Amino acid sequence: MNLHDYLKEKTASVELALDSILGEDLGRASILKEAMRYSVFAGGKRLRPVLVIAAAEAVGGREEDVITAACAIELIHTYSLIHDDLPAMDDDDFRRGRPTNHKVYGEAIAILAGDALLTKAFEVLAGCSVPGDDGRVMLRVIREIAAAAGARGMVGGQAVDILSEGKPVDAATLLAIHKNKTGALLRAAVRTGAILAGAGEEELAALTSFAEEFGLVFQITDDILNVVGDSAIMGKPVGTDVQRAKATYPALYGLAGARQRARAGRERALAALSPFDAKADPLRLLVNYLLEREK
Ligand code: IPE
Ligand code: IPE
Ligand code: MG
Ligand code: MG
Repeated sequence: MNLHDYLKEKTASVELALDSILGEDLGRASILKEAMRYSVFAGGKRLRPVLVIAAAEAVGGREEDVITAACAIELIHTYSLIHDDLPAMDDDDFRRGRPTNHKVYGEAIAILAGDALLTKAFEVLAGCSVPGDDGRVMLRVIREIAAAAGARGMVGGQAVDILSEGKPVDAATLLAIHKNKTGALLRAAVRTGAILAGAGEEELAALTSFAEEFGLVFQITDDILNVVGDSAIMGKPVGTDVQRAKATYPALYGLAGARQRARAGRERALAALSPFDAKADPLRLLVNYLLEREK
């Protein structure tokens, strides 16, 4: 199993499905379609939809049964990036290797493109069906994703991230920011794949532990890359967390301490996967990749 080939195959399916989801004509609001597609097709890693698929496959599910829900989560993620970059938030000019959405379309259209992506995600989820499901499984997934994206998840984490700028934060607050702003949607991605694929409760609990560790390692490495990364490779600016005095792992623990915590999280993530067979290998490779990633 080679992660590069796996990612290539899965991201190709995701790109195709996203293209079809975002293909509808918006008439007089066509600028909105352009702005939505601008950020969605700017070369994101598609980690969240790949996690949905990999989690489904880990419990014997099939890509075709989860691909639409996987894309819905990528739409929510992309909306969160557009809003995260706005002047009122992180005020960033580059994302996914391009000028940020508001730099090209203006703040009003950028806000609305984000709103439209978020709303589209739930339209698409509401139209999903699962073989043999009377709607209850899908409703559970919709509720799960909504909770993860909302005030007790990603949006709440973003609020605390912004409120903590320039202030000393303790370890518990930092962990809560990372768990919510980034971890919640990654956790929901893994759980969505597992639930749609009919995971048993024990399997779901193990995959949830995996996802929580994965989310933390992911955000720690995002923090580290903001210090030591190459902005040309990452497609977004570096050094900005220090400029804005953001609450990050390197700020609280230093680079070496942040790296050590990322490695420890990786070990816990792998341990959570120990009950699974080789079908969970893509998940294992994905968490290993987090520590080596350059973007
Ligand atoms: C970046 O996420 C934003 C965070 C949640 C830290 P990704 O690193 O997954 O961004 P893309 O999707 O590849 O652009
Ligand atoms: C982004 O967090 C998290 C969300 C968009 C929910 P950051 O602000 O730390 O991520 P980057 O570095 O801008 O991608
Ligand atoms: Mg931010
Ligand atoms: Mg940001």
